[in-house]
Amino acid sequence: MADIDTSALKENFATVAARGGDDVALYFYSYLFLKYPETREMFPPAMTRQRDRLVGALVRIVTNVDNGAVLVPYLEDLGRDHRKFGTLTAHYPAVGEALLATLRHFSGDTWTDRLAADWAAAYGVVAAAMSGAAETAALTDPPYWDAEIVEVDRRTFDIAVLTVRTGVPVPYRAGQSLAVEPSTLRPREWRWYTPANAPGGRDIELHARLIPGGPVSTALVRAAAPGDRLRFGPPFGRMTLDPAGQRPLLMVAGSTGLAPMKALIDQVARDGGRRTHLYFGARSGREVYDRDAVAALDERHPWLTVITAVSDDLRWTGVQGLVGEVAAAGGEWSGHDVYVCGSPVMVEATVKQLLAVGVPEPQIRFEEFGEA
Ligand SMILES: Cc1cc2nc3c(=O)[nH]c(=O)nc-3n(C[C@H](O)[C@H](O)[C@H](O)COP(=O)(O)OP(=O)(O)OC[C@H]3O[C@@H](n4cnc5c(N)ncnc54)[C@H](O)[C@@H]3O)c2cc1C
Ligand code: HEM
Repeated sequence: MADIDTSALKENFATVAARGGDDVALYFYSYLFLKYPETREMFPPAMTRQRDRLVGALVRIVTNVDNGAVLVPYLEDLGRDHRKFGTLTAHYPAVGEALLATLRHFSGDTWTDRLAADWAAAYGVVAAAMSGAAETAALTDPPYWDAEIVEVDRRTFDIAVLTVRTGVPVPYRAGQSLAVEPSTLRPREWRWYTPANAPGGRDIELHARLIPGGPVSTALVRAAAPGDRLRFGPPFGRMTLDPAGQRPLLMVAGSTGLAPMKALIDQVARDGGRRTHLYFGARSGREVYDRDAVAALDERHPWLTVITAVSDDLRWTGVQGLVGEVAAAGGEWSGHDVYVCGSPVMVEATVKQLLAVGVPEPQIRFEEFGEA
């Protein structure tokens, strides 16, 4: 990669972004869809949100092509994941061409043959890693798994627990997330959701929280009904159990960040049990949406202790406070494997507090339920 001048690529894109603004993504997609109309059907019907998503990500990835060790495993995941959109190896040159046409258009007289060659080479490396991994995955796995909603349990005005049935078990690991497309309600809109049970069966429990104005969470929480179709994409995430792990476990969950913790506890139970503390946090008592199921787990497993903390509800008679602070102050955790999941703000604060009380960084795994 030594012969690609990635700092020149970054500099060129800064010029393009400054000159083009929002028009950069518009130009890219107009070029792609006019010249290669077969790619249009992979993208959501309304392109507002995606406009800068793919182009921004493309440029960020391509201009970091010299960071191979970090990038390659990520690109292989990304390439496998793109199969759910219907992306084939044959589509990559079209996106590369649209990218270069866009860059050239907005670069004006700063465009050079050297830039063109370097962009093409960098894109080629990235596309090869993605499409190669996708082709290997196609030998063994389908691009997505079809599923049907069998139950929707609306627990609060903004949180629903869904049971979704697949034809065959989806091969995820406890703690991982799956891309979900509500095919009936929101075709071609994919978002990440995290199974709340361990893999192996055909039923997957999902916990969905409504984000105001968000199309997919609104569909799942407000409109979903038994019989609606979903698709699951390939699993993603490294918040899984270390198969050789011996340490006791500390889990800290905010709101629907509970889902992966339930899956991990399910897995631990199947593996014979391990000392586990689960701290669950919500803003109000009303948002303790899975109270009965969590109490049943606490009751059933002698190795499990559950503490629920509520931060913003004076009527709550249990533990008060932000869950990260309550957990950090609740024990001696430096010998534990720690799992943290919730909103980006909650995760950042919790990880900071746990580091401050002496948990070694490599023992902390986390997932943020913001945008991927
Ligand atoms: C790995 C991973 C796993 C996830 N698992 C779950 C899960 O199990 N349950 C669950 O309910 N959600 C989960 N999420 C979040 C989920 O993928 C969606 O981002 C969320 O449901 C919003 O989708 P949407 O289409 O409704 O809104 P979008 O169109 O994606 O977003 C609408 C607006 O809300 C903002 N926004 C997006 N997410 C949030 C957020 N969390 N808090 C505040 N603002 C936000 C966006 O910036 C945008 O402006 C997970 C996210 C990731 C990355
Ligand atoms: C080097 C090549 C590429 C890179 C680095 C890349 C990167 C990305 C990234 C990071 C995302 C957002 C993450 C996600 O939603 O999963 C994305 C989304 C997407 N990509 Fe690609 N991509 C590439 C090529 C392609 C090609 C060739 C196609 C097909 C024509 C394609 C189609 C899509 C679609 C349909 C989405 C979803 C848009 C959305 O719903 O937000 N991508 N891509």
